[in-house]
Amino acid sequence: MFKILRREQIVPNMHLLEVGASFVAKKALPGQFVIVMTDEKSERIPLTISDWNQERGTITIVFMEVGTSTKKLANMKSGDYLYALLGPLGMPSEIENFGTVLCVGGCYGIGNIYPMARALKEKGNRVISMIEGRSKFLIYWEDRIKKVSDELMAVTRDGTTKYQGHVPEILRKMISDGKKIDRVVAIGCTFMMMIASETTRESGIKTIVALNPVMVDGTGMCGACRVSVGGSTRFACVDGPDFDGHQVDWEELFFRRAAYINEELDSLQKYECDVYP
Ligand SMILES: Cc1cc2nc3c(=O)[nH]c(=O)nc-3n(C[C@H](O)[C@H](O)[C@H](O)COP(=O)(O)OP(=O)(O)OC[C@H]3O[C@@H](n4cnc5c(N)ncnc54)[C@H](O)[C@@H]3O)c2cc1C
Ligand code: FES
Repeated sequence: MFKILRREQIVPNMHLLEVGASFVAKKALPGQFVIVMTDEKSERIPLTISDWNQERGTITIVFMEVGTSTKKLANMKSGDYLYALLGPLGMPSEIENFGTVLCVGGCYGIGNIYPMARALKEKGNRVISMIEGRSKFLIYWEDRIKKVSDELMAVTRDGTTKYQGHVPEILRKMISDGKKIDRVVAIGCTFMMMIASETTRESGIKTIVALNPVMVDGTGMCGACRVSVGGSTRFACVDGPDFDGHQVDWEELFFRRAAYINEELDSLQKYECDVYP
């Protein structure tokens, strides 16, 4: 059982969870994730480790409420216990001195980009962080990310921050203006990661994405997280989650992610009827 030390809503629909898990905190590296079960009947869901503290033996997760499991998690309180937590899982992200790295984060990816930007900065890269939300009130961890970046660009669709629009159009302009970018790392919803990869394809800027297929065991045994990258079958849980965005078969990923949509909707409806009769 894993104690929840803090559970707070950081912006609407987005929550922070700090959990006591010293064995994970000791080994966690940027890009890795844990698999969490809220209770013994819950499904197992993968969530990225957004921060960790080895002295306190804690890890921090940022998650978005989308369906039954994340709603269950959002309904837990500080002092409650998670039934199970497994990790750290996945291959750590490649952290080298690449030159100038653009770290792009949208929705839960804003939290996930933080350890990445920190590690890349420590390696001597020039880090430009670009975080995206619909409006300013949905953007979080701005100060935290600013501290580990040389430049922070907050992008909103409604123009309530300095940069208005979507990540790809701003990225496209940066490329056409000749801004030096040696690598892009994009984390967030599948659509944003796909479009970011399409935007850099022509200029050949290496673009790494953290794929989010359905996962079950997280150990490479069940095959649920199968993705096609560069014409080969890979398992996102053990070969990834980071992959070259120019090589990903995005159509297949979208198709497989939607495989259980009816069951997910039924489950959510049942859960909401039970919780709010
Ligand atoms: C390696 C890995 C790391 C991840 N890290 C995080 C993380 O740090 N924080 C986080 O919030 N999520 C993360 N995810 C996604 C998270 O696992 C799913 O959001 C979660 O499993 C959804 O479970 P659910 O039962 O709440 O929703 P479901 O019932 O499974 O899904 C409900 C609906 O939401 C859609 N949906 C599911 N996931 C997403 C999503 N990520 N974005 C938009 N729509 C979605 C589904 O297609 C479906 O329509 C990660 C996924 C992977 C594979
Ligand atoms: S989640 Fe089972 S093989 Fe990856």
